[in-house]
Parts: sequence; structure tokens; C-alpha cells
Amino acid sequence: MTASFLRRVRVAEVEPVASRIKRFRLVSADGEPLSEFSGGSHVTVCMQAPDRLIRNPYSLMSCPSDTSSYQIGVLKVPDSRGGSEFMHENVSIGTELEISEPLNLFPPAKLARKHILVAGGIGITPFMSMMSELESVGADFELHYGVRSLAEGAFCKLLETRYGPRVHLYFQDKGQLVPLEQVLASQPLGTHVYVCGPKPMIDWALRSATLAGWPDENIHSEQFTAPPIGKPFVARLVRTGREVTVGGHQSILEALEQNGIDAPFLCRGGACGQCETAVTSCDGFIEHNDHYLTEAEKADGRKIMICVSRISGDAITLDL
Ligand SMILES: Cc1cc2nc3c(=O)[nH]c(=O)nc-3n(C[C@H](O)[C@H](O)[C@H](O)COP(=O)(O)OP(=O)(O)OC[C@H]3O[C@@H](n4cnc5c(N)ncnc54)[C@H](O)[C@@H]3O)c2cc1C
Ligand code: FES
Repeated sequence: MTASFLRRVRVAEVEPVASRIKRFRLVSADGEPLSEFSGGSHVTVCMQAPDRLIRNPYSLMSCPSDTSSYQIGVLKVPDSRGGSEFMHENVSIGTELEISEPLNLFPPAKLARKHILVAGGIGITPFMSMMSELESVGADFELHYGVRSLAEGAFCKLLETRYGPRVHLYFQDKGQLVPLEQVLASQPLGTHVYVCGPKPMIDWALRSATLAGWPDENIHSEQFTAPPIGKPFVARLVRTGREVTVGGHQSILEALEQNGIDAPFLCRGGACGQCETAVTSCDGFIEHNDHYLTEAEKADGRKIMICVSRISGDAITLDL
């Protein structure tokens, strides 16, 4: 992604929709219409903090056919490395931000006979635009949405009002869990399942679907959580001869950007493959945090996704 793909937007509305979640409505700041997008898309929001530029992806929740504005919902995460806290504390009506063009790494399958959407917590956001799209084309779908409590669950009432019996809500504080095995067991052939939420929930859903015999191509997931912090190390760049220190709280990509070095990226979440970089040598082992490389490629250690992965040792040499 380069500056030419960035759009300037203005915050037109901010609404607290749950105890730690705010909804932001963004309109074009330069009068140019916003681009069309498809259900499940996200944009990367650039936030100028005093010490650095933060770029975080956020899913578009609004109706894909309405390009008069975009809407995102942001959960303020505890121990934030900066982005979600910035959105909650520094962004208000009138704030101008730069965002990327929408990108979709989580689209509904066009030929699916039915769509089962499974959301946990803030993982509801990509399904908001997806459901608008599925409804507009008359597709068969149902949502299973697990939240900690009504106070922490965003959009529960809105979803029930709009989609009625297609929406199934589960409240953890009432001891309710998404009955995934049951849901997966009773679907017609050709159904696709989509999961977005905390990592343990995604892992459980993927494992359950596989165990229930669902083909890999019918199982889709999108993970929001950034990997845990690590210890600092040095990234040596073969082609430019430069060396940068990667702090414990930042990704290799962020360290490069902080040092004015351009590197390709799209999703910044380890899913799209855009930031794949060849490894020339590595001290220690690579902590692969992406969902893109195959297990064999990860074990081989000759590639790294610099937006999310780091190393256990003191230095890595990259073909950059
Ligand atoms: C496709 C996609 C869509 C998303 N949609 C939403 C949404 O709709 N709503 C929502 O609330 N959240 C969403 N997220 C999560 C969101 O992008 C942020 O991760 C979240 O807001 C928390 O950000 P944070 O900066 O507060 O803190 P943290 O989660 O603590 O940190 C995020 C930062 O950690 C950095 N990082 C990445 N890997 C490493 C590493 N290995 N070591 C150290 N640092 C690393 C990242 O570059 C990023 O800047 C989405 C994520 C993805 C990938
Ligand atoms: S930018 Fe998409 S995998 Fe790194």
C-alpha cells in the first residue's frame, strides 16, 4: 500500500455502542465519493500519534451499497499498543483521518447454498456488512453471536430487530455458549461457515468444523487479535545494507516504517501475503504469527510475514 491508495475522511458521528466499543461514521473529506466495497471488507486507518504513525485494520460495518459514508466499530483493548486507545481517546466528530481503500480478505462464498456466520465479541463487525449484502441478494444465512453480556455486546438489539429469527445470541454471563457442534451438524450440503472472534474461539470453530467433516474450502475465518509482544531484536537488510532495531512492542514492518523504509503491505494482520519477505539468515527461530504461510513453509524458515511475525533470537537478515 502506498500513499496514493489513501483517502482522507472526516469523522461525522461517534457513538458508544457497548461498554468498550465505539462506532465511528466516516465521510469523504475531499468531496470525492467513497469507493464501493463488498461484505467482509476492511480499511486500514492511519492514526498520527505524537511519537509515531499507527496503522490498524478495521472492518467496514455499513451497508456495502451505501457509499455516502463508511462505519467502523472499535473495541478498546486492555493494554493497547496504541491504536484502539487512540481511536477512543483522540478521535471525535470533525477529526480527519487517512484510510486505505477497502480490501476484502473475508468475502462470503458466491456459490454457497447457505452461510453460517459465527461471531464472538468485536468479531461481529465484518458480519454486519456481510449480512446486508447477503440479505440484498436473497441468500440464506444465520448468525450465531456470542458476547460476554448484553452490556458488552454491541448491536445485539439492532441485529435482532433487523434480521429476526436469523439471529441467535448467546450470553456468557448467563452460561450460554454458541452450540457449534449442534449448528454444524444440521446444515445442508454446500453450506459455508465463517468465524470471527477471539483466537481460542476461531481455533475451536475450525477444529469442530474439520472434525465434523466440513471441507476446508467451506470454512472461513478472520482473526483480529495482534500477536503478543516480544523482546527487541535487530533486522539487517541485505539489499540496502541498513540495520533497524525492532522494539518489543512493534512489528518488523512498523520498525521499517519508523526508519523511513518502505515495505509492501495490505492487511497488516498476517492474512494477505503482501508483506512476505525472504529470510537470508536468522538467529534463533521465527515466531510465525501469520495465517498465510503453509506449515511446511513455516518449518522451512526461509520466509517471514513482517507485519506480524518476529524472532526468538537477537538478529534476522532479510532480503530487503
Ligand atoms: C482484518 C482485520 C480487521 C479488524 N477489524 C477490527 C474491527 O472491526 N474492530 C476492532 O476493534 N478491531 C479490529 N481489528 C483489530 C485491530 O486492527 C487492532 O488490532 C485492535 O484495535 C487493537 O489494536 P491496538 O493498537 O490498540 O493494540 P494491540 O492489539 O495491542 O496492538 C496492535 C499493534 O501490534 C502490532 N504488532 C503486530 N504484530 C506484532 C508482533 N509480533 N509483535 C509486536 N507488535 C506487533 C501491530 O502492528 C499493531 O500496530 C481488525 C484486525 C484485522 C487484522
Ligand atoms: S500485510 Fe498482509 S500478511 Fe502482512
